[in-house]
Amino acid sequence: MIAIIGGSGMNKLSGLEELHRQIMRTPYGEPSSPLLFGTINGQEIVFLSRHGYGHTIPPHAVNYRANMWALNALQADRVIAIASVGGIRADMIPGKIVIPDQIIDYTYDRKFTYFDGTDKAVTHTDFTQPYCPIGRASILRAARHAGESVIDGGVYAATQGPRLETEAEINRLERDGADMVGMTGMPETILARELGLSYATIAAVANHAAGRGESTQAVPLETVYTVLEESMVHVRNILEHLVQD
Ligand code: HPA
Repeated sequence: MIAIIGGSGMNKLSGLEELHRQIMRTPYGEPSSPLLFGTINGQEIVFLSRHGYGHTIPPHAVNYRANMWALNALQADRVIAIASVGGIRADMIPGKIVIPDQIIDYTYDRKFTYFDGTDKAVTHTDFTQPYCPIGRASILRAARHAGESVIDGGVYAATQGPRLETEAEINRLERDGADMVGMTGMPETILARELGLSYATIAAVANHAAGRGESTQAVPLETVYTVLEESMVHVRNILEHLVQD
């Protein structure tokens, strides 16, 4: 079964033939939303809305540990996370879809590990390649079959939010090697790895990051949702071409 985490612009998954839904409890509390089980194009999936179905949970308040725990408990074979980002690299303009291959964590004050108890041996987790290469390849293959153009690879900078960045912060992220910026990539990505889940991200560029593009004085927030709505049509097309491998 493929698990899909919907982000901003995808609180619901149209095209999902819903079979049933389940409220789950985990040792870390409740996930952001009930889990929806169904099929897309005959493929069995489970869908979780990261910000809740009413889009009420801000990025820093998402219960990432409960979310990933629930997907692991359901024995999801693959997790595909949908995330909206601001584009930093010149070709990452609004409307583009990127499959990131690296991440830098700038978040703080979030519950970022399952290994924080004092009752077990200290556990370190390899994170050299933060996204599952098999998951990435299956998204890229689905995009090819769907006739959707996507950018293969890029560095995702995870910021704390909910505010957007200053222009100087974006300049710093760029100097650090970041190509796009979002608020939910961490700790979601590392928690998936700690659980041994295959996890990869489809990032939809919603806006130029602060100080980039034409409106350098402010990020045009009013256009973000229109851009995302259009992008989600393409994301959905990619999801419809995903096959279990
Ligand atoms: N910054 C951080 N997160 C985002 C942005 C941004 O510009 N756009 C969408 N998510």
